[in-house]
Amino acid sequence: MAQFRLTQISDTHLARRFKLLTDNFHRVSEHIDVTRPDLVLNSGDVSFDGPTSRDDLAFAREMHDALPVDCRYLPGNHDIGDNPTAVGPTPTQLPTEESRVAFRTVLGDDRWRFEAAGWCFIGLNSLIMNTGLDSEAEQFDWLATQLDKTAGKPVALFLHKPLYLDTPDDLEREATAIRFVPQPARSRLVEMLGKVDLRLVGSGHVHQRRDYTFGRIRQIWAPSVGFIISDEKQERIGIKETGIVEYRFQPDSFEVRHVRAKGQLDVDLDMLFAKQPAN
Ligand SMILES: [Fe+2]
Ligand SMILES: [Fe+2]
Repeated sequence: MAQFRLTQISDTHLARRFKLLTDNFHRVSEHIDVTRPDLVLNSGDVSFDGPTSRDDLAFAREMHDALPVDCRYLPGNHDIGDNPTAVGPTPTQLPTEESRVAFRTVLGDDRWRFEAAGWCFIGLNSLIMNTGLDSEAEQFDWLATQLDKTAGKPVALFLHKPLYLDTPDDLEREATAIRFVPQPARSRLVEMLGKVDLRLVGSGHVHQRRDYTFGRIRQIWAPSVGFIISDEKQERIGIKETGIVEYRFQPDSFEVRHVRAKGQLDVDLDMLFAKQPAN
């Protein structure tokens, strides 16, 4: 394959009860139907509340199954629970082996590797990091094996949470610790990735679009397909809009396009709940 076209969608937060989010997903589906990439990747928060409403995962799968191209998935905190951090309070919903298995049962592998157009693509479950679950250690072992096999090929990494704000040495702050891959797992991951030709890190989670380069690594924060979060509730770092990201990989190079599907709306999180009945 001389080129490989990948469309990253993220933070779809699908649930039968949120029509505004379903509508935005439909607008993105129509765009994908026209553009027909080789693969669609949903980089997490596929469902609105996977840990407590397994039907949200099932509904999300139904919606993706209607797409005319193959899909891969990565878990987000709204799919399996959120990771503990070194400095912040413990999240109300920690990932468990049970929630991880539920994700895998409905949406497939929570980590994966494949090659296309001379590139090595790796997807990681960023939510089990720092949990101490057996699957965390297993994933690090698996990753070490996969990195050994890249054989000098350029590597594109995808995961739900960005690795860091600007640089690997950014201090972990309590207020935003849940925004990034938490320490000390982050340092371990960055060190492992330093041994390969990492060119791209694609993430979601922040619901803001961002595109910057640190060293040789292009860092893409995919916006949410579904909704944005107001400045009152979340600091502005990148661009607050809904949308998707399109990549075109060729041997030793790649292009990134920041796109909004026609008709995709900037639904605000507050609008979402205003539409719901009081009970
Ligand atoms: Fe999200
Ligand atoms: Fe998230």
